[in-house]
Amino acid sequence: MHKHIEELHRLGSKSERLIIGLMSGTSLDGLDVALCRIAGQGPDTSVDILNFETVPYTSDYRERVLSVFSIRNVDLQTVCLLNAWIGLHHGRTVNACLDRWGILATDIDLIASHGQTIYHCPKHLHQLPDYPSATLQIGDGDHLAHTVGVITCSDFRQKHLAAGGEGAPLAMYGDYLVFSSANENRVMLNIGGIANLTWLPSSLNSKDVLSTDVGTGNTLMDAFIQQHYDGMLFDADSEIARKGTVSTALLAALKAHKFFSRGFPKTIGPELFNLDYLDRAKQVSSTQALSSEDQLATLSQFSADSIVQAIRNITSQVDSFSIYSSGGGIHNPLLMDNIQQQFAETVIQTTDALNIDPDAKEAIVFAVLANECVAGKVVSEIGDAAIGAAVARPVSMGKISFPD
Ligand SMILES: Nc1ncnc2c1ncn2[C@@H]1O[C@H](COP(=O)(O)OP(=O)(O)O)[C@@H](O)[C@H]1O
Ligand SMILES: [Mg+2]
Repeated sequence: MHKHIEELHRLGSKSERLIIGLMSGTSLDGLDVALCRIAGQGPDTSVDILNFETVPYTSDYRERVLSVFSIRNVDLQTVCLLNAWIGLHHGRTVNACLDRWGILATDIDLIASHGQTIYHCPKHLHQLPDYPSATLQIGDGDHLAHTVGVITCSDFRQKHLAAGGEGAPLAMYGDYLVFSSANENRVMLNIGGIANLTWLPSSLNSKDVLSTDVGTGNTLMDAFIQQHYDGMLFDADSEIARKGTVSTALLAALKAHKFFSRGFPKTIGPELFNLDYLDRAKQVSSTQALSSEDQLATLSQFSADSIVQAIRNITSQVDSFSIYSSGGGIHNPLLMDNIQQQFAETVIQTTDALNIDPDAKEAIVFAVLANECVAGKVVSEIGDAAIGAAVARPVSMGKISFPD
């Protein structure tokens, strides 16, 4: 038997595994690297975070990715090269983290790599009848596995698509396994570039679990800042947005897109929520003369209202629920205030309250998916379940790369 097949077999039978989860979202802020000890599988999964870092991307990295990121017409050679280069780059980043943490690669059981999304194209966006929903994450798993010398599980989204889903949001599976509670209804809200949430009813009935994107989280605000404020990547601590006033006309135009009236679950990316989207809304609402501060304040309110509307919708049948937030948006105080103000009855907490670092949460969720890939009965166990609504039949997710 191939030595790595044997190793995989051994891995699958262990009671706990050391898994490095890697996440790089649409914000392109950095690579989240979470070293987790994951015990058990399926509903018995438990996670301890042993180390966590977001290793910031250099402007060179960001520029290379941005040259193809969510752009329809790109140079194919660049995409081809980037696929290998990002795998290599992420592998080297893991090696540097392991060095800093004083941990040997040989002690790590598995790497779970999300890769870098460069295009996300659900059917409702492309509207081409012959084509299914599609998405593309680059940063090849073989390059990563070879660079670190550890078996790597990557490219989690493709089988979800193959089974008729939109390939996102996949956080649902990890959320369900790690955060479900019989004591309370939970909304797990992640505010990355895109905002998404998972609904975890206290019934623990996997058929009622729902995960969906709800709209832009930080991506439009970040893009606006990067266009108008030289050298800035985001509006740190909402300093600029706080100086502005929300334009009700622009806000209404931003909310008018049919994405918001479509039912859940649904997914979206910067392919829609980009600066053209803002420009069109400004045109429609004749608000071209608004100051930058006012535009940013309005974008912040737009993100907050999309999130609130989705939570209201999803929780409309229950008396009480808790909200646990994660992702970079939790560090944006105006955004969080704008959400909190609309929930007088519920104090929004971060996943810290559940002993999970909110900045590490997405990386952990993919580590859990990889754990299911090697040791779970997988997502079939979660149910016709969680994925029932999204795909035709339950599937496992992730592709395995051997180091050599
Ligand atoms: N101090 C801060 N003030 C305002 N926004 C912040 C702050 N820190 C992080 N953010 C926001 O969080 C984003 C990163 O969020 P993250 O969850 O990493 O997104 P992604 O998953 O898309 O990479 C940044 O681009 C920025 O918009
Ligand atoms: Mg990030």
